[in-house]
Amino acid sequence: MTKQTIITLPGDGIGPEVTSVAVAVLKRACKASGVEIETIAQPFGGTGYDLNGTPVTDETLELCKQHRFVLLGAVGGPKWDELSADKRPEAALLKLRKELGVYANLRPIKVYPELAAASTVKEEVIAGTDILIYRELTGGIYFGKPRESGEVDDDPYSLDTMRYSRSEVQRLARKAFEAARLRDGRVCSVDKANVLESSRLWRKSVIEVSEEYPDVELTHMLVDNCAMQLIRDPKQFDVMVTGNLFGDILSDEAAMLTGSIGMLPSASLGDGNGLYEPVHGSAPDIAGEGIANPLAAVASAALLCRHSLNLPNAADAIENAIKTVLKNGVRTADLYTGETGTVKAGTKEVEKALLDAIGEAVAA
Ligand code: IPM
Ligand code: MN
Repeated sequence: MTKQTIITLPGDGIGPEVTSVAVAVLKRACKASGVEIETIAQPFGGTGYDLNGTPVTDETLELCKQHRFVLLGAVGGPKWDELSADKRPEAALLKLRKELGVYANLRPIKVYPELAAASTVKEEVIAGTDILIYRELTGGIYFGKPRESGEVDDDPYSLDTMRYSRSEVQRLARKAFEAARLRDGRVCSVDKANVLESSRLWRKSVIEVSEEYPDVELTHMLVDNCAMQLIRDPKQFDVMVTGNLFGDILSDEAAMLTGSIGMLPSASLGDGNGLYEPVHGSAPDIAGEGIANPLAAVASAALLCRHSLNLPNAADAIENAIKTVLKNGVRTADLYTGETGTVKAGTKEVEKALLDAIGEAVAA
């Protein structure tokens, strides 16, 4: 059997609980495709800080770069909120994304019919929604310089810089256009070009790339309007491409269309590397209770199989297992509405249901 090493960074809060389910499911699905998954777990985020005095060590970064594929849980929590910017758990994540060069963050928003009732948005509005967000992940206001605090006339100030270069925009736009070709053939680029200089360059750069893809329809939308349209009529979107900050905000909003942010996986790609993480945070309020929804982490493992391991069958097996579990009415607390035919389940029960579903599919 071929061996494949994956670095796992379980992180903080519910991160370790959901990552452990994702790893179990990943191992089972890959084994059926003839690949044995070996994992190397490293402390990361607040947990890393508690152990090493830094949220990520150079050794961990080196290991991630060496093995190229990383499965991450979640980082952050109130315990580490008072730390200086460079010691915060989030700093580790930003550093990792930058060092791996994973500039294209894919966030698929798919509404499972079984969960349509779990969303706070009306069922008829969300049913059939299938959006693929391409969020720029290693530039924009998250990384722009200068970034500083000072004081003028007794009045303290802070500033961040939103900066994009044409090449940064265009390498992401190309990925979005390529993806649209395999879907409904439509790209919506989201910016704030009526106000921001960086957005005007964004728009111009995307239009230039679109000339290479005459078969793909390109539209532009201002980010404030987009926030509204996502709730008003999410089915109008196919592929969405946007900057780091706008993508961060819009993807949390879009998550609610799926019923719970606990459903959203992500893949961050670039330079041959792949970082896979659920979109949700560390949920410190429920950490350790065994009730966290592991499906976003599990779906991230499916993306790992598809985009980095080149194991589409394993990816399908994992995604089908998620569907089976939902069809069978197994629901963690965030998804449970008391609907007849559903049961409230803990994280481990969901794991068992997923493994059973994969096992049955393999045996069949
Ligand atoms: C996300 C998260 C991160 C981000 C935080 C934890 C730094 O919100 O992945 O969406 O802002 O990118
Ligand atoms: Mn976010």
